[in-house]
Amino acid sequence: MRIPFIAGNWKMFKTVHEAVLFVKELRGLVKDVSGIEVVIAPPFTALHAVAEAARSTNVGVAAQNVYWEREGAFTGEVSAVMAKEAGAEYAIVGHSERRRLFGESDAIVNRKTLAAIAAGLTPIVCVGETLEERERNQTFEVLDRQIKNGLDRLTAEQVAELILAYEPVWAIGTGRNATAAQAGEAHAHIRKRLRQWVGGDAADHCHVIYGGSVKPDNIGALVAEPDVDGALVGGASLDVKSFMSIVTKSRPAAV
Ligand code: PGA
Repeated sequence: MRIPFIAGNWKMFKTVHEAVLFVKELRGLVKDVSGIEVVIAPPFTALHAVAEAARSTNVGVAAQNVYWEREGAFTGEVSAVMAKEAGAEYAIVGHSERRRLFGESDAIVNRKTLAAIAAGLTPIVCVGETLEERERNQTFEVLDRQIKNGLDRLTAEQVAELILAYEPVWAIGTGRNATAAQAGEAHAHIRKRLRQWVGGDAADHCHVIYGGSVKPDNIGALVAEPDVDGALVGGASLDVKSFMSIVTKSRPAAV
């Protein structure tokens, strides 16, 4: 059974002070909430402080990115090992903003995914088509390429444990979410491919979550789709009440 997984991707928002205040409030609100995994991905500057505030609570912590080398002359980068040591349990890899603004290829996503796993982090690997690709009917082809290359050299057991985030680029930060039917269709396709590539057990175990303009008023329909196992939430995760409302509406009992 895959329990719903909801992660807040804060992107380049919140100071250390703001981040800690948020997590202190959130940890009280989710204290008695079970049957769901709740994760926050703060900027690197706040990672350690957030991890301390979330320690021994049911709030998990993710890095938004990692570099694949352990250490070295890589100015401005943070390794998976360092993120883990700072308190992260998860690492977002291959977010479309990283692909588009920082030139991350599928090969880089693959190196980062392997490095995250080697460091003991659970990767949250993002895939998704652009509007142009969707209009050219290339959605499945793009997803296949990004997943096959991004997860190259992973064992079926490693795929089973990770989280794939389907994030159509046209839905991110635009207020235009994929409809539940569009998300359901893409997720079912991803699950079908996983089944072919890594077998039924791993495919059934792997979480496939949706991201792109998730809000309290659309999360219910999205997670009602059988292959949508939760959400990666950007803008709506910056406010604790809106994030909490998404968490509440994603619980199995709420659907
Ligand atoms: P959004 O971002 O919810 O603000 O669209 C989602 C994401 O980028 O993960």
